[in-house]
Amino acid sequence: NVLVGSVRTALGWVPAQWLPGGTPDPLIGRHGEIGRQASRVDGALKVQGQARFSAEVAMEGLCYAALVHSTVTRGRIARLDTAAAEAAPGVLLVVTHRNMPRVASPSLISMTDPTATGNSSLPILQDDQVHYNGQVVAAVVAETQEQADHAASLIAIDYEAAPAETRFEEAKAGARVIPSLLIERNHLSFGRAERELARSPHKVDNRYRTPWQNHNAIELHALTVAWGDDELTVHDTTQMIAAEAATLAKLFGLKREQVRVLSPFVGGGFGGKGFWDHQVAAVAAARMVGRPLRLQLSREGVYRIIGGRSPTEQRVAIGADEDGRFTALLHDGWSVMPPYGACPEAYTLGTRAAYRAKSFEILQRHVDMAVVPNTFMRAPGEAIGTFALESAVDELAHALALDPIELRLRNLPDKHPITGAPFSQHAPAKSWADGAARFGWERRSTTPGARREGEWRIGMGCGSGSFPYVRMPGAAVRLSVRHDGTASLACSGQEMGMGTATVLAQQVADRLGLPLAAVSIEIGDSALPAAPLAGGSGQTVSIAGAILAAAEKLPAELLRLAGNDSPLAGLRPGEVRLAREGLAGAEEPSRHESFRSILTRANRDEVSVTASGTPPLEMLKFAMHSTAAMFCELRVSDVTGEVRVDRLLGSFDCGAILNPRTAASQFRGGMIMGLGLALTEETLFDERSGRIMNPTLADYHVPAHMDVPEIEVMWTDIPDPRSPLGARGIGEIGITGVAAAVANAVFNATGKRVRDLPITLDKLL
Ligand code: MOS
Repeated sequence: NVLVGSVRTALGWVPAQWLPGGTPDPLIGRHGEIGRQASRVDGALKVQGQARFSAEVAMEGLCYAALVHSTVTRGRIARLDTAAAEAAPGVLLVVTHRNMPRVASPSLISMTDPTATGNSSLPILQDDQVHYNGQVVAAVVAETQEQADHAASLIAIDYEAAPAETRFEEAKAGARVIPSLLIERNHLSFGRAERELARSPHKVDNRYRTPWQNHNAIELHALTVAWGDDELTVHDTTQMIAAEAATLAKLFGLKREQVRVLSPFVGGGFGGKGFWDHQVAAVAAARMVGRPLRLQLSREGVYRIIGGRSPTEQRVAIGADEDGRFTALLHDGWSVMPPYGACPEAYTLGTRAAYRAKSFEILQRHVDMAVVPNTFMRAPGEAIGTFALESAVDELAHALALDPIELRLRNLPDKHPITGAPFSQHAPAKSWADGAARFGWERRSTTPGARREGEWRIGMGCGSGSFPYVRMPGAAVRLSVRHDGTASLACSGQEMGMGTATVLAQQVADRLGLPLAAVSIEIGDSALPAAPLAGGSGQTVSIAGAILAAAEKLPAELLRLAGNDSPLAGLRPGEVRLAREGLAGAEEPSRHESFRSILTRANRDEVSVTASGTPPLEMLKFAMHSTAAMFCELRVSDVTGEVRVDRLLGSFDCGAILNPRTAASQFRGGMIMGLGLALTEETLFDERSGRIMNPTLADYHVPAHMDVPEIEVMWTDIPDPRSPLGARGIGEIGITGVAAAVANAVFNATGKRVRDLPITLDKLL
């Protein structure tokens, strides 16, 4: 199996074009389907209601499950009475730690082991121990969802509570500095930054706070499970199809081929649709009851057992000389990562690549608390790290009486400020210039609180966003061409509505010289060649690397079939190219034979190649980062403190843009999520009880249509010469920089500096 980070690909063949200084992807700069506004290939299915999501899969004899959640934070179950639930109408089974089959705890997610996908390493219904408030303590299976929900309410549990750490301030005292996923080095220090800061003529030194946040994909976490005699089929909504299949096989003692995970459509992911307790509970319960089973979390259930974004406290200090050049850049802080969780909130990662400075001091501390483990949430780290950093830059600009864009331009690095690696492609100055011109930045008043319309004070602000390039090892695809002149691509990749399948089809069309309509895409099935997870904004380029490898293998297969009667006879694989719906001589393009002709003469229906992407060596040699310049104009009411955002503009430098329509939608979606981060989203966590108090969309406020202004997006569209297609990721960068742009605009409007998110009206009165 070729899964994320597998040894096979890590040791695989490395073509010259991936070596630094080698030949760029031949599709870079070519204008075909790539770069066009193709409509989503899944669009028609979605608007017609034909796309079938995991909780909609019909099955004969389906039963339904509901979960019971702990109401205490830490302790043990002292008394557990399931009699009333078992006697309730329609109930088929009650699962508790007493009858749950022995299942190993999932291994915590790791970049190198594809069967290590767990967001939590706690045992699932294996004992009477409670580790956090909301933990699954029982599951009820019944004939209908309503019967299961009702019976779940009849389970009586007495807990023996134990002391638990649920207060962030207190937990900070025990914080650890340990290596973690995403962050190779938690502590970076050079150039005596504290001393430089102390003697800098200009400086800012402040603390910023960001709250707990929860995932609110509109599609709830849900799976429909069916056991066969010797195999397991799981229709799940997941960002990690292949890895989930491998993990379930390991936990339930099956061979990898005995488990099939299907996830053709995901109704929103954002990092939360990973591997959690409910999948294990549902698969076990389905086997126990001997029937196909559906488990869909309630909205509250998502809050209880699916982690979100960790809160942070961050200190950012910047020292500058008389010209505004940074002499010291310090960024440190605290975020939560319980010992049974895997996800650090990597809020200093963006800071490491953003600005040149004479000295750096960067430190991330992990705080242990008794909570559901936090996880990835769109730009984990960068979303909130850029809030702190880019607020601080704005504060420094104000102190220096310098335009905040000018201050940023003066400190842009020409190589990675910490590693010294050359940037592969990096044009933030162009994003700033283009964005400022389009936005009308020159209309900003430099005096805070100077613009007013009636009760409204009006302000403009900006902030930088950033996100690293990620290409994951081990992506595999099967590429087939058929005698009717069509082609298809198959891999287990994830379509979460961002346009993955569409952009894959565009690539295949261009690689093979085919019209888009001749290409079909099969994804969302673990039986297909294994794609990496959809995460780190890296799925598209990861699969693109595999498509490139497949397209390099295909000519040899076709030449073999073409034989001596072909106009290509006598040419070697290195002497032909895929072009014009077939194969052509590289030197003599007039020697050409179509796929249709080759396959028909060879009496073959199709020819297929399976290939894996090369190891992502480009990431080791180059600094590969996308950047964004975010602009915001808003008004703040003197009467109510209410903030209304009037305009947002994002100007992006993300390499080549593969499909302007789906890209614009990704950018806008990220920016809207950024508005939630800036103004409305906050999980209310009761530090006395360790319990989330607002597990509902009525009380946890995501931006609604009325909160979302006109959003403009633009991009440099300069290809990255070291990545497949010249592209870098775009899924996450849209949220970065937005909260700072909003906070900085609030300061420009009112003269009030809010350093803790969200910026609610009470903080402005
Ligand atoms: Mo993203 S937070 O890597 O789904």
